[in-house]
Amino acid sequence: MHIERMGDELIVQAPAKLNLFLEVLARRADGYHELETLMCPVGLYDTLGFSPDDQSSELSLHCDWRPLDRGALLGSVALGGAIAGGDGAAAWEGPATERPADRDNLAFKALDLLRKHCGIGQGARVRLIKRIPAAAGLAGGSSDAAAALAAGNLGWGLGLSHRELSTLAAELGSDVPFFLHPKGAICRGRGERIEPLDCGRSGWFVIVRPATGLSTAEVFNACRPSGQPRRAAEFVDALRSGGWERAGRALFNALEPAAERLSPEIARLRREFDRIDVLGHQMSGSGTSYFGVCRHAAHARQVAARLRSRRLGQVFAVSGCL
Ligand code: C5P
Repeated sequence: MHIERMGDELIVQAPAKLNLFLEVLARRADGYHELETLMCPVGLYDTLGFSPDDQSSELSLHCDWRPLDRGALLGSVALGGAIAGGDGAAAWEGPATERPADRDNLAFKALDLLRKHCGIGQGARVRLIKRIPAAAGLAGGSSDAAAALAAGNLGWGLGLSHRELSTLAAELGSDVPFFLHPKGAICRGRGERIEPLDCGRSGWFVIVRPATGLSTAEVFNACRPSGQPRRAAEFVDALRSGGWERAGRALFNALEPAAERLSPEIARLRREFDRIDVLGHQMSGSGTSYFGVCRHAAHARQVAARLRSRRLGQVFAVSGCL
């Protein structure tokens, strides 16, 4: 997450994430699943603009969907894109189910929760440019919620600590606390217990989001916890000792079989990636996004161009750092 001030407005770039490793350890009594997952923020961003309003208690959020699937390699350079300028793409006329009403938006709920927690009545105008596809295993909504918490804390001058923000974040969703950290991390519990990682390795990925998404709850419902769990440390060791060549072979996602039973897109994407020279490939989170690990930026562009020609869905070439 990257925050900058432009006049009265705070601009937050909220990244998507990829799960490079995800093991389901157990089903819990509260209906959640105990996880060990390794998540990496990547250079595909939603942009949240937050303008505090001391004269009114009204909280308004305007959400604008914009596709960003036009061949550019997205990385930290994307941070410079100002919300007002946008990327020139037309508003996305996607399915209505993928456009949560503004008050149902998790970023709105985050700001509402923050105000209640602090007992304040100030208002704010929030603009959200969505580029991260929904129901995709990329946690766009969770990232927006974390961005809103950080912006509200700063813009309203609340002074909450990182720990307090993390507690609120966990109330909003299992993936939200991760996005308060700028780096890759191993996440445990239901996803809210974060162990930041610093392997100092940049990676390049190509993500495909097929036409249809999957519900996180349905995928978790259909999964079976492992009797012999694998550990994220195996992935970290592979990356540290052998770079992305070895890490590509150590990718793992225990939710993939469940998602595959619910959506034909997963097996189709796996077949497509099997035919391409990448270091490894798998589904992200609860799907339906599927990604491949590339050798370098030019390789990612090449892979993305080939996948675009196959008309599988939205294709993003992105960088990330672990
Ligand atoms: O926490 P969040 O609201 O994002 O989770 C959405 C749904 O995904 C939950 O209601 C639950 O069904 C499922 N889930 C789970 N175990 C997790 C995280 C999510 O079963 N660790």
